[in-house]
Amino acid sequence: MGIIQRLPEHIANQIAAGEVIQRPASVVKELMENAIDAQATNIMVVIKDAGKTLIQVIDDGDGMQEEDAASCFLRHATSKIATADDLFQLQTKGFRGEALASIAAISHVQLKTKHKDQEETGTLLNIEGNTIKNSEKTVCPKGSSFEIKNLFYNVPARRNFLKSDTVEFGHIREEFERIVIAHPEIRFSLHHNTQEIYNLQSANLRKRIVDVLGKANNERLVPLEEETNIVKIIGFVGKPEAARKTRGEQFFFVNKRFFKDAYFHHAVSKAFEGLIPQKTFPSYFIFFEINPAKIDVNIHPTKTEIKFEEDRFIYSILLSSIKQSLGKYNVFPTMDFELETSFDIPSSLRKTEPIAPQIQVNPNFNPFQSTSSNSKASTPGFSNGIKTQGFGKENPSEKDWANFYAIKEEENVTNNEIEFNDELDTDQNFLLRGKYLISNCKSGLLIIDVKRATERILYDELMAKFIHQPILSQQLIFPFEKKMAKNEITAWENNISLINQLGFSGTMNEEILELNGVPSLISDNQIENTLSDLFETILHRDIEKGDFAHKIISSIARASSSSAVITNIDKAKILIEQLFQCKDHSYTAGGKKIINTLGMQEIAAKF
Ligand SMILES: Nc1ncnc2c1ncn2[C@@H]1O[C@H](COP(=O)(O)OP(=O)(O)O)[C@@H](O)[C@H]1O
Ligand SMILES: [Mg+2]
Repeated sequence: MGIIQRLPEHIANQIAAGEVIQRPASVVKELMENAIDAQATNIMVVIKDAGKTLIQVIDDGDGMQEEDAASCFLRHATSKIATADDLFQLQTKGFRGEALASIAAISHVQLKTKHKDQEETGTLLNIEGNTIKNSEKTVCPKGSSFEIKNLFYNVPARRNFLKSDTVEFGHIREEFERIVIAHPEIRFSLHHNTQEIYNLQSANLRKRIVDVLGKANNERLVPLEEETNIVKIIGFVGKPEAARKTRGEQFFFVNKRFFKDAYFHHAVSKAFEGLIPQKTFPSYFIFFEINPAKIDVNIHPTKTEIKFEEDRFIYSILLSSIKQSLGKYNVFPTMDFELETSFDIPSSLRKTEPIAPQIQVNPNFNPFQSTSSNSKASTPGFSNGIKTQGFGKENPSEKDWANFYAIKEEENVTNNEIEFNDELDTDQNFLLRGKYLISNCKSGLLIIDVKRATERILYDELMAKFIHQPILSQQLIFPFEKKMAKNEITAWENNISLINQLGFSGTMNEEILELNGVPSLISDNQIENTLSDLFETILHRDIEKGDFAHKIISSIARASSSSAVITNIDKAKILIEQLFQCKDHSYTAGGKKIINTLGMQEIAAKF
């Protein structure tokens, strides 16, 4: 007698479940995606014990008729494709028809659903291990509610493999964020145990990113927009100075589906090369819109890897469009980011006719002027105030752009080579309006930004002290009050001892934080900014203790040096000495350049 036999359906489903459902977060992802495919405008996610006890997703989408409510749990049951060709016209997130079958094989499921055309009653189903336990009519709103209990109850190996609630909930939050950022028009909420973690109103993309990842992001986002015959790219990259030491806020989406891609990631990194310190990561939220026939989504069970037919072309478009956007930000700080420009994409591929950059350029731009706040003021020194139009050409060539960026690259190289006493002639210093310190060096002129140098020195001092003792706190006469979101309250409570060590103290009164102690170095008008940096940091999910202190101390150092000027040359000498004793004298802790050089060649070119 032969030894081969067909596995019973429920065992086959359990095995398939292993691929699709690895942890509670996978269930959250699949159910949220189904709700989106069902045209929901409002999706609520309720989690108990990081999904180990309960995962519930409620939507106001199309809902299901009684018949479909039962068949949706069968393997390969889908309403989204009918033929293999449909795979190349996918407009939906799902298509494999295996998520619900997998989930039902390894948990206890209750589904309540009412189809949009049904007036009276809906359907209630209870399923355990793929078997329907009962089915009845029920009164429920239109849409669907899936309740998943006791996940992996019959797969003990999987259940034991689950990590702590904090880690598992971290994964859930990550999946949730990926989906909500891709769909800003939909309202979402996320509840964990008794807490409301998110309550997101329908918004545009920028607002959604800010609502999910924190207010501080608003000023840091540089828009991307490029349209070619093959792909449309929209979204945002973070400004270089917002680059982080931890990865995290890096999102690629294709046709609103999150995916990971090392190759495209490389393009982004390349665009940021030389603009951010090593070992820091830029944030990005990049959406590709492409004909579904040009991608293959079906190469990975969780669909987070995607094959692009024209990946090399997309790589170069991505690289060039980020460079353009960053170029605008770095070089043309006063211009409106929403202005649409497109240059070095081959014209045969361009969807719209090329638009010459209608922007005002100062060819002798001040290399320190990378923050937009003070960028309108004409800066003394290199700027001669003359403004010219673009490159003086309709279509600048790649070489024009290369020249344009060359200054930055050259400076980077020189900066890394500067050593105190080696190249500097400190007897020939002079001060420019107390803000810049100009010194003679081998390769030409060295310009030190006084404010940023002070910030670096202060940061190193505070950091060295903080290892042994808390930051000195000053009590406020009038408490500073701030209304808190639920997730901010939780973050404050979870991190309170570290927050106190950093010099902040306060009481939480319902939703109002009454801040009564702040680090002694910061003045009243800087409290709000420093506090918002604090929250931005504590809300960041996988922040480590060391990194936490780094962020906050860097914010305190920035705040307290924000008006630093030097009025006498002896003090300037001390500043230079202290600066060159710092481990990294080229960049502030926040990644902004402290020193720039004006090379002899550049000076010569001006005459
Ligand atoms: N929230 C929902 N609202 C309406 N229909 C749903 C919902 N979730 C699932 N369905 C139906 O159940 C089917 C099976 O879902 P699933 O197993 O996730 O497979 P897929 O999404 O790949 O089609 C879907 O094709 C859809 O018709
Ligand atoms: Mg699905």
